[in-house]
Amino acid sequence: MVHLNRDNEFEPRIYGFTSTASAVLTHLICIVFSVFIALLSRPGTSLFSWHPFFMTLAFSFFMTEAILLFSPHGSPIKRFPHKTKGRVHWILQCLCLSCAVLGLAAIAYNKHLNGKPHFTSWHGLLGLLTVCVVGLQSLAAVPLIYHSLAKGWSLAKLKRYHAASGLVTYLLGSISLLLGLCSAWFTASVREHTWYLSALCPALSALIIMNQVTSAYMAKKRLQS
Ligand code: HEM
Repeated sequence: MVHLNRDNEFEPRIYGFTSTASAVLTHLICIVFSVFIALLSRPGTSLFSWHPFFMTLAFSFFMTEAILLFSPHGSPIKRFPHKTKGRVHWILQCLCLSCAVLGLAAIAYNKHLNGKPHFTSWHGLLGLLTVCVVGLQSLAAVPLIYHSLAKGWSLAKLKRYHAASGLVTYLLGSISLLLGLCSAWFTASVREHTWYLSALCPALSALIIMNQVTSAYMAKKRLQS
């Protein structure tokens, strides 16, 4: 009997600890990675420098923090009501979209000034798609605030679709970041082991965010069935 009680307390503690540890790790990764790219690109020294700076801020920092704040264990505003979390989430996502548009404008204008062709690499093509998807995802999220805009759709269904498409958007952002790290500019700026460490940042964050969103979805499904 005593054993059972101990087990019951021990198990959730282990899961709680690992969830908190992975969320803290993701906060650290997204901050360190954004600061590292900012130091390397030195925003303001050239028009190009704004591109990696704004894109990393958008996808590694703002988008990751916007999702992490719903983490049951690692949210910095864990104790706040869900409504407040929703509000902070859309403010961070608006900042993400603004930075993404600025980053895209910087690289597109830089290429135009240098007479280079546009969207010729996989990074450029997927990056353009990612920025368009973030715009669409943000537009599609408006009915979550003004529910009357989506007649015939329950709020629960809207939220489920928003989370699933948001996950795809986050993965697109992470892959675009990874492809950006494969660019001639970045590979020429860092040594091999720094490259691997940098690539680990968006890859690890994507895995942890994927786990957070799918766990929340599975928990809701279990409650409904
Ligand atoms: C999710 C984040 C990112 C997105 C959405 C993105 C998007 C884009 C787009 C659309 C272009 C093509 C612009 C044009 O052809 O007019 C581009 C080019 C470029 N990006 Fe990014 N980018 C991101 C992150 C990064 C990062 C982190 C770096 C560097 C570490 C980077 C480095 C470059 C370079 C060097 C180019 C010019 C060469 C090329 O077109 O491939 N990008 N990016």
